[in-house]
Amino acid sequence: MSMDLILMGLPGAGKGTQAQKIVEEFPIPHISTGDIFRDAMKNETKMGLEAKKYIDKGDLVPDSVTNGIVRDRLAQDDVAKGYMLDGFPRTIDQAQALDTFGAELDRAVDAVINIHVEPAVLIERLSGRYICQNCGATYHKIYNPTKVPGTCDVCGGHDFFQREDDKPETVKNRLEVNVKMNTPLVDFYQQKGVLHTVDGDRDIDAVYKDIQAILTTLA
Ligand code: AP5
Repeated sequence: MSMDLILMGLPGAGKGTQAQKIVEEFPIPHISTGDIFRDAMKNETKMGLEAKKYIDKGDLVPDSVTNGIVRDRLAQDDVAKGYMLDGFPRTIDQAQALDTFGAELDRAVDAVINIHVEPAVLIERLSGRYICQNCGATYHKIYNPTKVPGTCDVCGGHDFFQREDDKPETVKNRLEVNVKMNTPLVDFYQQKGVLHTVDGDRDIDAVYKDIQAILTTLA
């Protein structure tokens, strides 16, 4: 049985944080369109340079670019038993494209986990986020610090960075753009009967417990 999942939520809702926990227990590939874009930007590929124009402003990368990336990724062998999309789809066009890719592969989304957090909470979350340079593990200076100050819990690395698009001026636009797109997507998956909304404004482990309960019924 496959486990085809989508993790949805506004910027800073905790998608990446929960994805880290999910893959420890449910070993399916974690596919983050944000991570794919950041890798491409770092390597200065043609796609990365194109995506950067939008990401630096907090806008969405056009569907024509994003859909092709996900389609190629879902054609790889490692998704045979399932996948977890993080940050895709974000528009109805992307959701419809995902349905089309699924139909070609004779599979459909099993569950959409919508991590709900009010936008007011998210500005502080994003401004306090820091990320391990070596393994990408995500922390927060107040809510989720490393156990040993300055040392990554996951890989023991000592170098951390803040994301360029976590600057206050970019965060404001990111939130506005994503709030606008979120409601139609929630309705889209509600109508399909696969939507599970969890309250993301709680302790990280409490949020995970709810997600774990949903995923256990699918596994
Ligand atoms: P992407 O990388 O997907 O960013 P995002 O959606 O803005 O989400 P984030 O990664 O910022 O937040 P998160 O929900 O993963 O939160 P996290 O777990 O880190 O996309 C970046 C950009 O790429 C987009 O703006 C867009 O331009 C482009 N893009 C990507 N996908 C696209 C698509 N499909 N279409 C078009 N463009 C696309 O947590 C945040 C912080 O809060 C951390 O510090 C964490 O430690 C802390 N935290 C987490 N959970 C809790 C909790 N329960 N309590 C307290 N603190 C918590």
